Formats: sequence, C-alpha cells, structure tokens
Amino acid sequence: MNAPLQGHTVSKPSAATQALLSVDKVSLEYRTPQRVVRATHQVSFEIDPADRFVLLGPSGCGKSTLLKAVAGFIEPCEGEIRLQGQMIHAPGPDRIVVFQEFDQLPPWKTVKQNVMFPLLASKTLKRKEAEQRALHYLDKVGLGAFADAYPHTLSGGMKARVAIARALAMQPKILLMDEPFAALDALTRRKMQEELLLLWEEVRFTLLFVTHSIEEALVVGNRILLLSPHPGRVRAEVHSHQYDLHSLGGSQFQASARRIHRLLFDEGQSPETKRELDFSDIRIAY
Ligand SMILES: Nc1ncnc2c1ncn2[C@@H]1O[C@H](COP(=O)(O)OP(=O)(O)OP(=O)(O)O)[C@@H](O)[C@H]1O
Ligand SMILES: [Mg+2]
Repeated sequence: MNAPLQGHTVSKPSAATQALLSVDKVSLEYRTPQRVVRATHQVSFEIDPADRFVLLGPSGCGKSTLLKAVAGFIEPCEGEIRLQGQMIHAPGPDRIVVFQEFDQLPPWKTVKQNVMFPLLASKTLKRKEAEQRALHYLDKVGLGAFADAYPHTLSGGMKARVAIARALAMQPKILLMDEPFAALDALTRRKMQEELLLLWEEVRFTLLFVTHSIEEALVVGNRILLLSPHPGRVRAEVHSHQYDLHSLGGSQFQASARRIHRLLFDEGQSPETKRELDFSDIRIAY
C-alpha cells in the first residue's frame, strides 16, 4: 500500500472514534468440491454513522460477496468484520439487505403486511406497533395510499420503495443495498436514486450500497471504495459528497467519472493514472 496521501490520513478506529462498521483485511472464498474461488483479497474499509458508502467495481470483483459477509451470511477466511466493535458471525436485525430482485416480496401479503413481516418475525414489535411503524415508513416512501395493495399491482419502482420501507422499518444500524435499482428502467432508476437521497436527508441512515455504475456511485455515495477486478482488492477510496443528481452532465462530475474509470480499469500503471492519485478527493491509494 502507498502511504496515505498528504493531508489525507487513513482513519483507524480508536476508543474515541470507533467506526460503525470496520472491515479489516477481509478475504472471502467460495469452496466447492472442485476448487476454491477467491472473491476478495484483504479488503479493508471503515464506515461511519450516516455514511453513504459505495462499493464500486467490475462484475465479479466480489461486491455482493462482501455485502453478504457484512450481512453475516458468509464468514471471512481471513480478516475481521466488526459492527460497533462486535465481530459479525451471523445475520442479525441490525443489518438489513435490499437485493436487486424486488420479487422478493411475498405476493400473498399486502404492502403493509410485507413491511410488518420482519418486525413480527424478529419479534421486534407487537402487531399494533408494527402496523404503525409500517405505515410510517410507507408514508416516507410515498406509498401511504397503497398499504392494502398487493405486490403484483405495483410497478417496479413501487416494489423497490416497498423493499426500502420494509428495510428501514427495522431501523437497522446499517442498510445494505445490492444493486437495488439495476432492474429498473433508466428514468425510474434516476427517480429512485433521488428518492433514496431525499429519504437519507430525512432519516440519516447508514448505507452500504453496491453498484457497478460509476455514475450511480457518484450520485448516491459520499465515499466510494474502488475495487479491482476478480479477486477484488481495494484500489482507492474517493470522496464524492459534492455530487448529487443535479451534478449529472456537469464537467466536474464527468471528469470525476473518467478518473474513476481509469483508476478501475487502468491497472494503476499508466503515468496518467498515477497522476489521478494526486487529486485531493482520493483518500487512500493502494
Ligand atoms: N455461490 C458461489 N459459488 C462459487 N463462486 C461464487 C459464488 N458466488 C460468487 N462466486 C464467485 O465469486 C466472485 C465474486 O462474485 P460476486 O457475485 O461477489 O461479484 P460482484 O462484484 O457482485 O459481481 P456483479 O457486479 O456481477 O454482481 C466471482 O468470481 C463469482 O464467480
Ligand atoms: Mg453482485
């Protein structure tokens, strides 16, 4: 790893400033009888409360695998993942995942029942409070009027909103989203990004968001971790809090997108890519 760039220290957890989530040199593998596939190699990052932290990298670099490890579905073969200092070994209601497929909503339950279900199943709330909480978050995602509708009567964007309301209703310490808008058409996707940011302004949840779209990463994230192709290793971390949907098409935004593209795909070898690492928004470079 290169030394931290001047003026940009790499934050390390201390008793006073403990990160909400810390991923420390995590390697993840899939073992089949035939072979071992290494999905990530010694990946480290830290997420602070109310961060919108994005994992960005090409297909197969291990983004979903990392998310599953944070969710507790997969154990690292090397390294540690801690939430508020506690090692993660299993799934828990403090980490809720929103997946890409919105047909994860059971079709025989109404929208409200879908949002209530994890609250009841995890015994987080009794029925009456679960109903109130569900209606509160459905209102926040603009679906108050659809509480009694069934999922098959909703558009893709509306199903995405239900999935987000269902996750937020659990009030997790960290919300995990794996390419949540990838299945939507371009306009709906943009609208959902906007709504997610508005929701964040209001609720200030902590988000770990996976995408392979550079543009989406710049819009949604305040920090972006760039991962190399398979197996995923950290290439750099970029600050992106200055951008939102209004930045799309702007010259600074486009220049950042081009630089991230080079950092992701240029192997870091060309002089041009080495110059990219001198920009002030790059916090760490490997
Ligand atoms: N269940 C599995 N068994 C074996 N190998 C797997 C399994 N799931 C994923 N892999 C492998 O692990 C690596 C990382 O996969 P992963 O799904 O995490 O990538 P990704 O970055 O999320 O890609 P994408 O952008 O396409 O979703 C890939 O090489 C993939 O083939
Ligand atoms: Mg994936």
